[in-house]
Amino acid sequence: MYLSREEEAVYQGECGETLSRMMQILVALGDIYGAERLVAVKSVQIAGVSYKNIGPAGLEWISGLSGQVAVPSILNPAGMDLLRWKEMGIDEGFAERQQQVVKAYEKLGVSIDCTCTPYQIYDRLAAAGDHLAWSESSAVSYANSVIGARSNREGGPSALAAALVGKTALYGYHLDGNRMPTHQIDVQADLRDSDFGALGFLAGGMVKDGVPLFRLRSPPGRDSLKALGAAMAASGSVALYYVENATPAPPDRSDGGGPGLNLEKISLDRKDIDEVYEQHPSQGSDAVAIGCPHCSSGELVRAAQLLRGRKVKANMQLWICTARKVAQANPDLVAAIEESGARVFCDTCMVVSPATERFSRMLTCSGKALAYLPGLAGVEAGYASLEECIEAALEERRQ
Ligand code: F3S
Repeated sequence: MYLSREEEAVYQGECGETLSRMMQILVALGDIYGAERLVAVKSVQIAGVSYKNIGPAGLEWISGLSGQVAVPSILNPAGMDLLRWKEMGIDEGFAERQQQVVKAYEKLGVSIDCTCTPYQIYDRLAAAGDHLAWSESSAVSYANSVIGARSNREGGPSALAAALVGKTALYGYHLDGNRMPTHQIDVQADLRDSDFGALGFLAGGMVKDGVPLFRLRSPPGRDSLKALGAAMAASGSVALYYVENATPAPPDRSDGGGPGLNLEKISLDRKDIDEVYEQHPSQGSDAVAIGCPHCSSGELVRAAQLLRGRKVKANMQLWICTARKVAQANPDLVAAIEESGARVFCDTCMVVSPATERFSRMLTCSGKALAYLPGLAGVEAGYASLEECIEAALEERRQ
């Protein structure tokens, strides 16, 4: 891979050992994937934050680094709410080590917002055409598909390397040639809220790491696109998708053909979507989790409306996960939600927190959580609409 004189100097250690090690990571990746050169990134989102996932070796590696990030960089969710971890049932030993992880990143200049939805709290991190080095699969999918930026799905070390160097290797989804649709999915059904997560759960399993182009009956809003992309990134490894009339369009084909040329065609209908609900019933759930990916302000509004004047059952937990800045911007909504006994947890989520492991079955309206809870948290998962999820957690209405 070609390196400029300055990049070569960093590689050779003229700017310190940490930067040299980071540049070596980028060059190794570039060589593996056939990148011609590095490209400057606008921002970085770093996974590998939950102590549950990175353990002592990860903490030691991050703590041993020095220097400052070269571009705006933000953390993925941690293994606990950084302030209310006791309420989640996190033990002190875990909490102490999780705080050390976050502090080690903070020392490097990384913003410790701890969210998988950085685009919901900062506009400046990504715009159409920007090159990024983001890690969390739903964030990468959203950046590529809804914003029209360009990012591969970085691992924790390669994202941190990009943050400190300010560049990433130019391959994969940074290049037009890899951003062409591979499948066309026609959906013959009217879709509402959790249907998008169900559709993503189905479609990800079908297209794996392909690039689907959806034709839907009506264009979805941003929260629905967020849910669709997140689910496909988990049940498959989709990092880029298109929805006709809702997302930026695919690049022009070099042969002048339209995007529909030579695509593998898939058709899905209401029965297919309904099967996702039927195969993951809500019965037997001892917890309900909303906010995967982290809730937007609009989603908090809906949750607060559904919870108004109601109480969560004594034997049930209802968690709503969001970014701390979204919670701080909506104190009245958070208060209204928590009045019911539900908890709004920040900085973390039901999949990356060890606090989830004490539950036997969790009900969710997220296709991504549905795909990940059994394997990553060892918890069975049920699937239902937001309204049904919340209703399942509540005491009967008083007459
Ligand atoms: Fe975000 Fe956790 Fe879901 S990181 S996308 S809330 S699994």
